[in-house]
Formats: sequence, structure tokens, C-alpha cells
Amino acid sequence: MTSQTYSRVTTKSLQQMKVSGEKIAMLTAYDYTFAGLVDGAGIDIILVGDSASNVMGGHETTLPITLDQMIYHASSVVRGAKRALVVVDLPFGTYQADSKEALRSAIRIMKESGAHAVKVEGGIQVKDSIERIIKAGIPVMGHLGLTPQSIYKFGTYTVRAKEEEEAEQLLNDTIMLEQLGCFGVVLEKIPASLAKKATASVNIPIIGIGAGPLVDGQVLVLHDMLGMNKEFSPRFLRRYSDLDKIIHNAVEQYTQDVKSKDFPNETEQY
Ligand code: KIV
Repeated sequence: MTSQTYSRVTTKSLQQMKVSGEKIAMLTAYDYTFAGLVDGAGIDIILVGDSASNVMGGHETTLPITLDQMIYHASSVVRGAKRALVVVDLPFGTYQADSKEALRSAIRIMKESGAHAVKVEGGIQVKDSIERIIKAGIPVMGHLGLTPQSIYKFGTYTVRAKEEEEAEQLLNDTIMLEQLGCFGVVLEKIPASLAKKATASVNIPIIGIGAGPLVDGQVLVLHDMLGMNKEFSPRFLRRYSDLDKIIHNAVEQYTQDVKSKDFPNETEQY
């Protein structure tokens, strides 16, 4: 594996990473400050995920977030990201009804936020939408397996494609997404052996979340990996910090200092 330096990550650089065996690191971000921090630390792809609906908006699912809200988050992230490729989720209800609406939604994201690509959940059911968006020159990343916008159809957030029929459909969909011209695919919460098979079946990068190590890259939700959300503890999540505790302690100390009149002191005033 050779690790190359990219001044700006593009869909072409991701392709080169797949070929050279360099793993792709992807995280979500939803605002300017975090995007700058994540970008400065060398992440390859920033996903403005519709998980903003949960993490930023406090909703139970990703369904309520709107196109306008996604554009607001995406344009903030774009201003903070100097090197990473910025990918934005098309939110629920903006691409499923027909392919023209899908294209209009994708164009709004690209024009109004300055992002570099969009992500779309689903396979054969949304083929026409993906095809039309790509034909208009907009890079598309697919998303298969546990697709959170379909949570009410699944009824549960457990592992997908354990049964043969669903596994076969997922493999077919992955190949179809490559044929349509997608530059990559996210595979969420599926057996590692199936993710390995899917990764070997295509020439585009496969990014896993809860899909094991034998894929081309990994993605996590930023707030989860920073330890800001203690209620969410799936097996695939590795926590790299304990920001929940760090922020709690800092705010507790500040409150105490204000109440005790310790803050501000003589050097902290004009
Ligand atoms: O919305 C999101 O954060 C995502 C990732 C979990 C892949 O789609």
C-alpha cells in the first residue's frame, strides 16, 4: 500500500486509493467548525449525512430533515473543508418520486452549497433517479444495506442481508450502481463476508459502516466516534474520545466559577 498526498481529494483520487490499496477515511460533519477540525486532521471524505436529523435536530429518524436544512449544513461544511471531498445526502422524499425531482434536488445541493457530490440510498428502486443525476454531471455515491430512510419498512436497525435473497439483491445492486456510474458505495450494517464479496465485485470504492474490515474504507458518524452520544452503542462503533465527559466537566466548572464569582478574574477584564 502506498499512501499518496492529495491537495484536494476528488472522486479520481478515491479511485486511485482503491487501486493502490490505501484505505479511505470518511466521517460526517454538519457545521463549519467541526468540518475544519476534521478536514485539518486529514480525513478524505466528509459526509454531510442526513444523520444531521438525529444529531443536530434531535429527531428519532433521518426522515424529517428537509432539503433546505441539508443545504444549510452542507454550505457550512463546504466553507470549513479545504482538502476533503464533501458528499451530501439527498434527504428522504427528494429523489424517490421521480427522476426529474431527484435531479432538481441534486442540482440545488450542488449549486447552493458548493458540495462536490451527493449520496442516495437504495438500489434498483431508485435507478432512474441515480442515472439522471449522473447524466447531468453530478457525482453520486450509493448507499445499500441498512438504509436509515427505510427504517419504517425494515422495522428495526438490526443487521441487513443475512438471508440469501437480500444478500444477492445487495450484490446485484452494488454492481448496478457501478454500471450507472456511481463513484463509490456505502454499505451499512451487513455481514463482513458479504461486504468483502461486494468489494471484490466492483472497481469503485466501497465504504463500510458496520460492514467489517475487508472494504475500501470506513465511515462513522462524528458525534458517535467522539463519544458525544452515550445512548448509541452498536458493536461496530469505536469511540476515539469521551467528549461527553469532557464537555460536561468543562461546563460544570464554568457554572461553578460564575456562581462563585471566580470568573472573570482581574486578567480577564478590561
Ligand atoms: O447519514 C449518515 O450519517 C450516513 C452514514 C451513517 C453513512 O448515511
